[in-house]
This record gives sequence, C-alpha cells and structure tokens, in this order.
Amino acid sequence: MFPCDFAWGAGTAAYQIEGGWQADSKGPSIWDTFCHKKGKVFGDQTGDVACNSYELWEKDLECIQQLGLTHYRLSLAWARLLPDGSTGHVNQKGVQYYNKVIDDLLACNVSPMLTLYHFDLPQALQDQGGWKSPSIATVFDSYAQFCFQTFGDRVKLWITINEPYVCAKLGHEDGIHAPGLKEPGIAAYVVGHNMLRAHAMAWHSYNSLYRPKQKGAVSLAINSDWLDPLHPDCAEDIAAAERYFAFTLGWFAWPVFVTGDYPEIMRSAIDAQSKKLGYSGDSRLPSFSKDEPAVLGTADFFALNYYTSRKVKAREACEQVLCMKSDRDAEEVLDPSWPICGVSWLAVVPHGLKKLLKYIKDTFNNPAVYITENGFSQVGPLQIEDDQRSEFYKDTIFEVAKAIGEDGVNIRGYFAWSLLDNFEWSDGFSVRFGLFHVDFSDAKLTRAMYHSGREYAKIISKYKSNQSG
Ligand code: BGC
Repeated sequence: MFPCDFAWGAGTAAYQIEGGWQADSKGPSIWDTFCHKKGKVFGDQTGDVACNSYELWEKDLECIQQLGLTHYRLSLAWARLLPDGSTGHVNQKGVQYYNKVIDDLLACNVSPMLTLYHFDLPQALQDQGGWKSPSIATVFDSYAQFCFQTFGDRVKLWITINEPYVCAKLGHEDGIHAPGLKEPGIAAYVVGHNMLRAHAMAWHSYNSLYRPKQKGAVSLAINSDWLDPLHPDCAEDIAAAERYFAFTLGWFAWPVFVTGDYPEIMRSAIDAQSKKLGYSGDSRLPSFSKDEPAVLGTADFFALNYYTSRKVKAREACEQVLCMKSDRDAEEVLDPSWPICGVSWLAVVPHGLKKLLKYIKDTFNNPAVYITENGFSQVGPLQIEDDQRSEFYKDTIFEVAKAIGEDGVNIRGYFAWSLLDNFEWSDGFSVRFGLFHVDFSDAKLTRAMYHSGREYAKIISKYKSNQSG
C-alpha cells in the first residue's frame, strides 16, 4: 500500500542539534541571542552545544543507517553559511560542512530533504527588522538561490520555511520563541505575510533558474492540528472550528494552494474585530501586491507537520484587546480520553492525522503530500524501553497506510520527528522527541537507540521489503 518510492525519513533542525554556535566563523542567530538572555528557556539552557552534530555528524549518520532511512530531513543554519545573512560574505567552512553531510548521505543511499529556514534567522538580519521588514523577502530569496546553486545538484527536495505559523505567532505575538517579540494582533500577520512573500520568491527562482537542470521539488512546511467542533451539531462550534482552521492551516495553505490570498473568514474576522475595537487604518492582515511574484501555485507538494488534535468551541466571552486569540474567537479543548505525552499540548491522536490528510486532499486539490514531521515526546524519568512511543509510531503509520488505501491520499513520505533527542526550543532539553537517546550529561553526547527507534526501523524494513517485492 505504500508506493515503492515512499520516503521513510526522520528530521532534525540545525539549531536543535548542531551546537558549534560560534565555530569556524558562524554568525549568531536570533536563537543564540534569545537563549543567552536569562529566563527565556527552561533552566536557561541553550543550543550552544546541543547534540554537537557540527562535530559528531558521523555519529548521526550511523543512527540514520541503523534506522534504515531512505530520507533524512535537516535544516541549514543560515548564519553558518552566510554569517551576516547576506550573500556578500560566504563562510566556506559552513559550505564544507553541509557538503560533507549531503555527500555522506548520498553515499549511504539516503536522500536529503533540506530546509532553508527552521526558526534561526541571522541576528544581523533581525537587527535590520527581521521578518517584520518587507525587504527580508528578497534577502531570503538571495540566500535560497545561493543554496540551490551550491547544493541543488545533489538535493532534490527542498523546504523553504518551516512552520511560518510558529515563527509568526510564538516569536512575534506570544514572545516565547526568538526573537521574543510581544506585539499582539499586528506583528504576526506582517511576519506571516513576509514569510509567504519570501517563500514565493524563492519558489519562483527555483522554478525558472534551477528546476530545468536540477529537477527537484520545493514547498514550505505547514503545521496543523486536526480540529473537530466540540459539539458536532452545534452551528457555533462548527463555525469556530472553521475559523480556527482558517487562522492556522488556512493562513498559509490557502494563499499557496487555493486562491493566492488569505481565507476570507480570516480577513473578515480580523477586520470585524478591528472595527469593534476602534482600530483605524488599513487591515491588520496585509494584502499581496500584484507587482510581486504570485504566491498561488508555489508548492510542488504539501509538506505537513502534524502532532496532535483538538476539539474547538465558540468562545463564551471574548477579551476586548487586540490579539490573534480574540480575532480567531474560537477556543480549543482537549478531549480527556486522549492520552497526553510528555508536554501538555501533545495529546496522542493518530486517527486525527488520517482525517487531516483527507481534509488536505479534498481542500487543496489532491496534492502530493509529505508528512515532514510527526512525533511523540517524553519527559523524565526517561525510558529507553519506551513502549508507549513505539505503539504511537505503529498506530500512526497504520493511519497513514489507511489514508492511502481507504481515502486515496497521495502520500509520498513520512518523516518522524526527531532523529535525536535535541534542544526543544523553550523547553530546552527537558522534552525529548528522539528515536535516539542523547546523553547530555556526558561530554561524548553518546547516542543510543530507543525501543521506538527499533520499532520504526522494523516498520521501515517490513514495508521496504514489501515495496520491492
Ligand atoms: C518544530 C520542531 C519541534 C517540534 C516539536 C515543530 O513545531 O518544527 O522544531 O521540535 O515541533 O515541538
């Protein structure tokens, strides 16, 4: 039931694993700055060393081989390649590092999927306004072109930006991710807009300048929960779930896959709230300019990051303050029957993935889909024999198989998050998503396979032999 060229992968992100934050002339990123401030991250931990993959890449490669992966998703640290973010100054050591990673993967028959941006903007660009500044889009496009030019002879799967929703909301509305801005109701919409513009420009550059020769595929990774109305017969809850979808998945997928513009429900909710609160001026949700490369059609596949599901209900009372929550005007509820794993937000709902995949097929015109992230975390005391996580992977992959077999979703690959225990953003090292345990108390940062890793390896080997047979 899995196609013979199905991608069996796992993913990581540069800041979460590489360490070497100043090694070989790397420039600082916004996550370096954020973590070095007190009180931002659990235990004031940082990614200064993390899994030290900058020096221990070969150990990661051994893990990849032990799992039998066909694909590995990693991100490039923009400031490792271009220390001040601009192509005016290239750090050759950074280029060498990623060249080695890519070449080693290919030598082991593993295809790389490269993410250009996974939350770690060069600090020098943040100092010029970061993602709030319209000029960031062309700067990103130059960086993307540099990467296509440098690595695109060997890399065929590209993600421009990982989870624009998370960067925009957690980084610029809630202030719990770098750059730590709290500018509710305004900045996140501007950031999301500039991310879409940047993505679209990079896709067009690839399409016209690199695709003819390199023949790869480019998308952006969109995170989404599955959302059901709390009371399926209640019109207010149904409308609330639709609004919630519009403010998360729709915010980024609608412009790219459906109309070239934001979902109408999103814009009207934001504008109605502006009016109610006496906010004058242009819509807080920016508009796409006809003079720039179109955003519609700028994804060669749908890259989905799925972790959990929610029930959604209409809100009883809405705060009279400018913020995304009041614009969205819908409240999420956890179903008490869903087990929680590790972190409070992550309810284990594998069947939600099947529903979401069908929804994507129906709403976005049956795109090819890669599940670019999906995982289950644990917090201490850690279990190497993590049976619950093993079950999770079995159940989830079974749901993926059903989405292909029963619903006909065109799923091209599945990437577990994550290859290694790593720096889990504001949770530091307290939350572990790895298929491999990393001993952060030991200078060698030894990697050891969890039971869930063994289970995933078994699943891969079973399906790979069915596929080839
Ligand atoms: C991010 C990862 C993160 C994971 C688990 C996603 O939002 O892309 O970097 O580790 O979720 O929280």
